[in-house]
Amino acid sequence: MRKQHIVLVLFLLIAGCADKSAVPIPSNEFLIIAHRGASTYAPEHTMLAYEIAQQSAATYLEIDLQMTEDGVLVAMHDETVDRTTDGGGLVKDYTIEELKQLNAGEWFNSTYPSMANEAFEDLDVPTLEEVFLRFGDEANYYIEMKSPKIYEEMEEELIALLHQYDLIDVNKKLPKVIIESFSRASLTEFHELEPRLPLIQLFSFKEKAALSDQDYNSLSTYASGIGVNLNAVDKNFIHEVQQHAFQIHLYNINNEMDMKKALNLKANGAFTNTPNLAVDLLKQPNE
Ligand code: G3P
Ligand code: CA
Repeated sequence: MRKQHIVLVLFLLIAGCADKSAVPIPSNEFLIIAHRGASTYAPEHTMLAYEIAQQSAATYLEIDLQMTEDGVLVAMHDETVDRTTDGGGLVKDYTIEELKQLNAGEWFNSTYPSMANEAFEDLDVPTLEEVFLRFGDEANYYIEMKSPKIYEEMEEELIALLHQYDLIDVNKKLPKVIIESFSRASLTEFHELEPRLPLIQLFSFKEKAALSDQDYNSLSTYASGIGVNLNAVDKNFIHEVQQHAFQIHLYNINNEMDMKKALNLKANGAFTNTPNLAVDLLKQPNE
C-alpha cells in the first residue's frame, strides 16, 4: 500500500467514521444516469461523451473505472483496451503515459458510421482526475468500481481522489457522488473506509429479480440502493425494494418505450446512453 494511502486509511478509520450505517439518498428526483456518458452520440467514456451528457442535463455522469499499471484510475468499461481504442491488451499492463497514446474515438466512427464525426478522431482515454478537473462541482458523478479484484488499491485510490477534489459532499439532497459495483466485497471495503457516500449494489438477474430478507438485511449494512437490469423487474419488486428504504436504478434503457416503462414502474432512476430522451420524457405531462 502506498504511503499516502496508509495515512488516509488511518485517518479515515480513526476519524470518522463512527457511524457506519448506510447513507440514504433523500432526493425524490428521477435520476438520469448518463451511461458511459451520452454514449449513443459519442465514443463511450470520452470527454465528449460526458460533455454531451452534461449539456443534455443528465443528473449523473456514469464512469466505469479501470486502473493502469502505475495506479492511475481511468474511465473505461472493459479490462482490455481492444474494443474502445486502437491498442490491444489489458489496461493494467499499460502505464498512463502509454495509455494516453491510444486513440479512443476512431473505433466509434468505424462501428457506427451514421454517427461518425471528425471530432471523435483525436479523443483519448480520460483519467478520472481529468474528468473531475473538467467538470468540478458542475456535474454529479456515478462511479463504478469495475474489476476491483484485479486492482488491489482501487478503493483507496478512488477515495483519495474524491478527498483531493473535495467531492465528499454530504450535505446535499442530491449526492454529488454515488458509487456502484457488482462486487459486494469492494463496496463493503469502500464503506468501511468512507461511510459517508451512498453506494449502489448492482445485480444482474437472469430471470425474475428477487431478494430475500437476509439479502435486504445484508444490503442495509452498506448500500443505499440497488441497480438492476430492467428486464428482470416488475412493479411489485420495485415497490418491495423501496419499502425496504432502498433506491432502485434500472439499466440499460436506450429507447423511449423502455424509458416510459422505467418511469411507469416508478423506479428511482435509469442508466441510459441517451439521457436527452429521459429529460424530454420527464418534461411531458404524466399520462
Ligand atoms: O453500471 C450499471 C450497468 O449499466 C452495468 O452495465 O455498462 O457497466 O456493464 P455496464
Ligand atoms: Ca457501469
